[in-house]
Amino acid sequence: MATKPLLEVKDLKVSLATETGTVVAVDGVTFHVHAGETLGIVGESGCGKSVTAESILRLFDQEDVTYSGQVLYEGTDLLQLSDRQMESIRGNEISMIFQDPMSSLNPVQTIGKQIAESLKLHRGLSGKQARRAAVELLRLTGIPSPEQRVDEHPHEISGGMRQRVMIAIALACKPKLMIADEPTTALDVTIQAQILELIGHLQAETGMGVIMITHDLGVVAEICARVAVMYLGQVVEEAGVDDLFYRPQHPYTIGLMRSIPRIDGERNRKLHVIEGTVPSLRHVPAGCRFAPRCKYADERCLHREPPLNRTADGHAVRCWYPGIAPVEEEAHELGIFG
Ligand SMILES: Nc1ncnc2c1ncn2[C@@H]1O[C@H](COP(=O)(O)OP(=O)(O)OP(=O)(O)O)[C@@H](O)[C@H]1O
Ligand SMILES: [Mg+2]
Repeated sequence: MATKPLLEVKDLKVSLATETGTVVAVDGVTFHVHAGETLGIVGESGCGKSVTAESILRLFDQEDVTYSGQVLYEGTDLLQLSDRQMESIRGNEISMIFQDPMSSLNPVQTIGKQIAESLKLHRGLSGKQARRAAVELLRLTGIPSPEQRVDEHPHEISGGMRQRVMIAIALACKPKLMIADEPTTALDVTIQAQILELIGHLQAETGMGVIMITHDLGVVAEICARVAVMYLGQVVEEAGVDDLFYRPQHPYTIGLMRSIPRIDGERNRKLHVIEGTVPSLRHVPAGCRFAPRCKYADERCLHREPPLNRTADGHAVRCWYPGIAPVEEEAHELGIFG
């Protein structure tokens, strides 16, 4: 794609204040998303996926966070905008779906009111118009009898329905970019598939860009065009989805692929922990961050941090010895591409 990306994150660094001092949760993250494209972000728990997503929208309290690098949205650096300018981007140009819909929905307000709120705020609709539009949005997300559902409260509907409501709210403003942070993790497999299909369908209709954060490589294979793999606050590999599955270059990515259990059932496609434990952000290893867990690491890896190098075909790897780990036949035989 030769067009300019919708979003370009460049060397993003996010330091967060905690009770016991500052942690650098994201340290030099770079990726981009085009309009109409779905980028997957994968990596073990704690690697900084959510902090990256929340930093794009600047959701942290100003006193707790320091950003550096750039978050270019249509060429404008969001990190440089005033709070008020940022307010008009949030939930308007860019919206986010969170993992747990219950914690982001208001339990004492009907779902119709919550969707209408967003419509009134971002699209300036009147009360009546907003209600009609809320019903239409619920219908669009596949909720049966939306005219009745619109007057129900979050606890009266199922988890899958709540996630659809969240999507309806996220779509209310017709965002150009949707960030979905593990939107289906809490849902059972059938509902999960429906929600992903729904996001794909809406994307095709509206041409929005999507960032899909997930633990599930099956989800990645199904819906993502490109994938960024994160490890300990950094992107260690980024490539087109076929390239990443069939020609992974970073030993960490190869480890992730290997650790997918053989497919006995549709459920067994999650990332599993590879050997060794993830070091704490407070004790980030010198040199390559993955070196302590990497059986190919040598002196250079232990002492010098590799840059994220991009080849001509757009495949980026942060490793001194890309491709050193053999890709086992196994990874090819997983049948993820059907
Ligand atoms: N508000 C916060 N203040 C301080 N540290 C935080 C905050 N949010 C996250 N962190 C820390 O930043 C690191 C990255 O967390 P993050 O939530 O981004 O991980 P993640 O990749 O989304 O993990 P998961 O897959 O479990 O959701 C973790 O070490 C976490 O403890
Ligand atoms: Mg997270």
